[in-house]
Amino acid sequence: MANKEIPYKIYLEESEMPKKWYNVRADMANKPAPLLNPGTLKPMTAEELGVVFCDELVQQELNDTDAWIDIPEEIVNFYKMYRPSPLVRAYCLEKKLQTPAKIYYKFEGNNTSGSHKLNSAIAQAYYAKQQGLKGVTTETGAGQWGTALSMACAYLDLDCKVYMVKVSYEQKPFRREVMRTYGASVTPSPSETTEVGRRILREHPGTTGSLGCAISEAVEVATSHEGYRYVLGSVLNQVLLHQSVIGLEAKTAMDKYGIKPDVIIGCAGGGSNLGGLISPFMGEMLRGEADYHFIAVEPASCPSFTRGKFLYDFCDTGKICPLAKMYTLGSGFIPSANHAGGLRFHGMSSTLSQLYHDGLMEARAVEQTSVFEAAEQFARIEGILPAPESSHAIRVAIDEALKCKETGEEKTILFGLTGTGYFDMVAYEKFHNGEMSDYIPSDEDLQAGFDGIPRFPGNE
Ligand SMILES: Cc1ncc(COP(=O)(O)O)c(C=O)c1O
Repeated sequence: MANKEIPYKIYLEESEMPKKWYNVRADMANKPAPLLNPGTLKPMTAEELGVVFCDELVQQELNDTDAWIDIPEEIVNFYKMYRPSPLVRAYCLEKKLQTPAKIYYKFEGNNTSGSHKLNSAIAQAYYAKQQGLKGVTTETGAGQWGTALSMACAYLDLDCKVYMVKVSYEQKPFRREVMRTYGASVTPSPSETTEVGRRILREHPGTTGSLGCAISEAVEVATSHEGYRYVLGSVLNQVLLHQSVIGLEAKTAMDKYGIKPDVIIGCAGGGSNLGGLISPFMGEMLRGEADYHFIAVEPASCPSFTRGKFLYDFCDTGKICPLAKMYTLGSGFIPSANHAGGLRFHGMSSTLSQLYHDGLMEARAVEQTSVFEAAEQFARIEGILPAPESSHAIRVAIDEALKCKETGEEKTILFGLTGTGYFDMVAYEKFHNGEMSDYIPSDEDLQAGFDGIPRFPGNE
């Protein structure tokens, strides 16, 4: 249906929603490196992973071969509460920028949790329920993931224990109350409720916490309570798999109108939205069927891709999780208190790390004041109040569109608008009052993080 007039919003029919998730690993010649047991340095077996994660999710985590995995009907039905999500043609932004570029964004903020995180939360809660578990534990930074998981657990009648990074717990009381409304218990991390929390508090008194600390606590609680497993909102292969609904819907909508993106942009915290958005397009590129320019955008204050090392490292500060091979700043790296809580993770998805390492993707680091300038411009022109995390992608989409203005190129740009920023008004306030700074870690700061990466033969 090429050349048809393109509406402001393309909404698919419910019947056009994906029935299968797409597993990009199946098409990768260089597979992401397996998770390692930190004790034996051998790949984690399904049995070992099963102590921490739900059984079906372990299978998905280890599955590097099946390109398509059925989405259970109950999950598809849950998705229908807030999907298909719109693919928006940013006509107003294009006009304002006076660019010949055509800009599209896939908007994932149209659900109560406010972000794409619900796509994986419902899947992970569903498999926990299927396994007959009592509940799940997790960490949350800014709170989007915790909120999404609370919603999914409420729907399936599962207990949900959330460890929330202390600084966010204190700064975002409303986010916390949304989670409690959905029935979750929310504990500020690090806390006195776990062994690892007490240790971190002893070593770093007064710390405001990090995602890495909260992960350690949530894992400890899951593995020490009968009938509980731990679930993670990003980084893992299974999460990227669930998030492939974003890219699959975007591709179906674009194909319907004969649109082919040239540049695909997403913010990258642990990599789940970016991985999900690019998966089907990356699959085409890996199979030699098409060519795209992928750009991962991260904060200059937490530059895992652009300044990190591609090594095996712990995903958590307490060093109790398996080792993942990824671009990392070191599990002890605690980024400055920038306002994109969801992008403050020291590592990155192994799948995306491998793709980046193989030169299939570009990464850019951007400073937060320029991110908020883009966020504000976008809000004023397109109407949506974007999350600080999502605004990283907006920044680079605008930069790319302005480049097209200079060169006259009519590129088609697609970016992921992962969520809304209603709970981030303190950050917007700081920006408006001129109180926002751009902290960029020095090489010495980064070295301190790198020094904590475990070293062993092959990981130097
Ligand atoms: C709105 C939003 N966008 C993006 C992210 C980054 O996560 P990921 O890289 O897994 O998509 C988060 C994480 O909390 C988020 O809340």
